[in-house]
Amino acid sequence: MTDGTRLTTVDTVHEEGSWLFTVRDSYGELDEVILVPCEDGVEGWINRCPHESQRLDVGRGAAIRDGEIVCPRHGSTFDSCAGDCDNGDAAGTRLVPVETTVEDGAVYLSDRSVSFANEGGIDAAETSPADDLDGDDDVPSSTSHIGF
Ligand code: FES
Repeated sequence: MTDGTRLTTVDTVHEEGSWLFTVRDSYGELDEVILVPCEDGVEGWINRCPHESQRLDVGRGAAIRDGEIVCPRHGSTFDSCAGDCDNGDAAGTRLVPVETTVEDGAVYLSDRSVSFANEGGIDAAETSPADDLDGDDDVPSSTSHIGF
């Protein structure tokens, strides 16, 4: 039995092309992860090009061509399954892996160095009113502070 957080399904990743979520490391720092199709399973990578820290999925899904993830800034491509790059500005680098496990068609986060934060990118968590637990109104609310 898998004890990691259930993320999505293999079918969803294959149908949508990629699947973005956010994790929290042991220092409390947030990072984005993309799941991408790989043969009959999926692979997880930190959503960041090693060349200039460009997000690979900028919120519209990662661009994938012929089994390669395409960096939107300078166009280097990374093998979806191995994470390595042999072309362009990022040649010789490799994406940072995030360990996942597949069981009965479901994908679980099994990487012990991070914990699941939310589906979608970091922005999705920061703009959620439910996250404004300290009540400092740093997210939009329906209450107006304008006096007359
Ligand atoms: S930032 Fe990705 S190839 Fe340059």
